[in-house]
Amino acid sequence: MILDAKHEMQRKLFREFAETEFTREIQDELDETGEFNWNMHRLMSRYGFMGVHIPREYGGSGCDYLSYALMVEEFARVDAALSIYANTSNSLGGGPVLLAGTEEQKQYFLPRVASGEKIMVFALTEPGAGSDASRTDTTAVADGDDFILNGRKTFCSGAPVADWAVVFAKTDPTAKGSRGISMFIIDMDAPGVSLGADEKKMGINGYPTSDIVLEDVRVPGNRLLGPLHKGFKYAMMTLDGGRLGMAAQAVGVAQDCLEQATKYAKERRQFGQPIASFQGISFMLADMAADVAAARELVYAAAELKEAGKDATMACSIAKYFAAEAANRCAYKAVQIHGGYGYIRDYKVERLYRDARVIPIYEGTSQIQQVVIAGNLLKG
Ligand code: CAA
Repeated sequence: MILDAKHEMQRKLFREFAETEFTREIQDELDETGEFNWNMHRLMSRYGFMGVHIPREYGGSGCDYLSYALMVEEFARVDAALSIYANTSNSLGGGPVLLAGTEEQKQYFLPRVASGEKIMVFALTEPGAGSDASRTDTTAVADGDDFILNGRKTFCSGAPVADWAVVFAKTDPTAKGSRGISMFIIDMDAPGVSLGADEKKMGINGYPTSDIVLEDVRVPGNRLLGPLHKGFKYAMMTLDGGRLGMAAQAVGVAQDCLEQATKYAKERRQFGQPIASFQGISFMLADMAADVAAARELVYAAAELKEAGKDATMACSIAKYFAAEAANRCAYKAVQIHGGYGYIRDYKVERLYRDARVIPIYEGTSQIQQVVIAGNLLKG
């Protein structure tokens, strides 16, 4: 797809920001300490990145899905973990409020999320409910106008730094399958809310992940998000957009792998010549270039479809499936081209290999994307 002038200018701005601000020093610090970089969060907030895809009337910039995808791609091209800093508010955090919130909820939560003043995260997965997301054990029992929540959410990206979480809980224990699940916004500092330990992850370090434990957490009725018992559908709709974002992240990582590997292949000499002159190497670069180009087209097409208000579930899953796998193929080849140097931390491809690995897992594994794609193909 040839980008129009507006999107091309946005790409340039996102790229310049990432290349200038995501210094190698910051990247290494994030990877080594795993700690959230509040200065970067504040800087990105000042630039308005937290609200890129949040409508103007709720404090965002009101950009379209393509702009959002370009932002995530360009940020991930420099640092995958930092791309999530600006992704969550526009996606799994702000997304459910935009999709299902009352006007009052939108007016209250979205401007704060869009400005970066508050961080809102998504808590769907449980120890026993991963791919089978509707098998939730977390319960929400009505008590007067309030609800009392009990349960444990796991692998919650951003939970240790969050102010609010969108939590899914069973409100009708008699309902089967995905029915009878509702969505709530909880305060992370409410009595009864605690965090599990920060997970020690393979990659995407610097954007902390932990469990959220709920013990008799009283949630006011005005924190019910969307209709009672109908939360699962909104989780799935939110994930459609989320998968688009993670597909864009995969494109950024794959592009970085290609650039690192191309540069190295031209510089590194063996047998008296640059290794790029060997077909064994140049064909790997060609495969990577083809993967990046195809993944990018799928992401932009899914973004356009979603923007047009069409059913984009299948397109988002195809983009996520292909791009996530492509990023991992590219990371494998980038390390291979670097040989022994690719296995040590001095070279960025070592981290790219680790960062890429989670993309076919989070926001729905590649196998779940296949389930969604096949389900859409065969329905009707
Ligand atoms: N849009 C709108 N509605 C949808 C939908 C969509 N994309 N997908 C499903 N639905 C609706 C269905 O129409 C159905 O509605 P009815 O009850 O009215 O018929 C309902 O939701 C249930 O659908 P299914 O029967 O297809 O549900 P299922 O239980 O079989 O699950 C699934 C389907 C695709 C496997 C789903 O569970 C799934 O996506 N699993 C993966 C979960 C996932 O991605 N987890 C990631 C968590 S977030 C994360 O990783 C981020 C992080 O912080 C790390």
